[in-house]
Amino acid sequence: MKTVLVTGGLGFIGSHTAVELLARGYRVVCVDNLANTRADVLDGIAAISGQRPVWANVDLADPVACRSLLAGMPDLAGIIHFAAFKAVGESVQKPLAYYRNNFGSLLNLLEFTAAQPQCRLIFSSSCTVYGQADTLPVREDAPVKPAESPYGNTKQVGEEILRDAARAHGFRAIALRYFNPIGAHPSAKIGELPLGVPQNLVPFITQSAAGLRGPLKVFGNDYPTRDGTCIRDYIHVVDVALAHIYALERLLSGKGSDPVEVFNLGTGTGSTVLEVISAFERSTGKKLQWEFAARRPGDVIAAYANTEQAAAGLGWRAERTLDQCMADAWRWQCTLPGK
Ligand code: WQD
Repeated sequence: MKTVLVTGGLGFIGSHTAVELLARGYRVVCVDNLANTRADVLDGIAAISGQRPVWANVDLADPVACRSLLAGMPDLAGIIHFAAFKAVGESVQKPLAYYRNNFGSLLNLLEFTAAQPQCRLIFSSSCTVYGQADTLPVREDAPVKPAESPYGNTKQVGEEILRDAARAHGFRAIALRYFNPIGAHPSAKIGELPLGVPQNLVPFITQSAAGLRGPLKVFGNDYPTRDGTCIRDYIHVVDVALAHIYALERLLSGKGSDPVEVFNLGTGTGSTVLEVISAFERSTGKKLQWEFAARRPGDVIAAYANTEQAAAGLGWRAERTLDQCMADAWRWQCTLPGK
């Protein structure tokens, strides 16, 4: 039985990936210091999978704690590294905390993989590295634009650190550039748990529909798009989780030659904010209160993925629809206290 370390394993994408790894017979160790999630996510993973992953409550940015955790795992087959601070706006307020945490944890993990090259690493990157791409759908070889936030910079520089380390130390890695992961596991036992006021569109929609927030503010209606609102590539979190299984199996099979391969994780289809609202109302039967507001600084007009490389290299494509995403997100919201 191969052991896989899932850092940020109690987080949104990490928990859904842990479920898929367990379903395929991997032994899973979830590392999570609960900086941005709750311990009871472990119960949700166990309820779906019928088995409980090991949970290590470790701050991976602490080199001593990280080394001691990994010293006990010489036969680790893979590390899937989700653990990072990820709020764009917060990163502008607290850049040093973001650089210390996101780079510190990555560097500590890379010291391990440099010494144990049989351990394959998957790095959680983001479409933010593209900024406003000149051509859409955006391909992996599109130019990386100057980051619009310290968060985006940690992903751009994180990929460069990964590439330099893999080349120097002879290990293999894959960077996955997520577009907009949304939705929840269809069982409604795990899902997105934004702490505080949700910054992202879909959790704000479900909390507003649940009466926990006021009307949704649609940030800008004068963009050069089909209905004036921004376009994004919204992808079901289970599709994102499955892509990690395909990427791990590509690395374990020895396929590919570049030390670090990069793949977009998107559906290839862009949806406007108003189309997301319609999908929510259509799939749940709930009317959403919303109003137009000023543009949000830093938003790009449109971003959606070219999916050819992921299909060819990973043998993976997103399968779930926007309506399924919204129905699953709502079903999860309805399980939360104070819904
Ligand atoms: C989507 C659209 C908003 C909230 C971010 C990160 C990215 C990735 C995904 C981690 C935009 C609009 C939003 C609201 C709105 N995260 N919106 N009202 O900004 O595309 O990407 O999350 O990897 O790195 O940058 O996602 O959900 O915040 O916004 O109108 O209350 O919804 O303007 O057009 P974004 P988002």
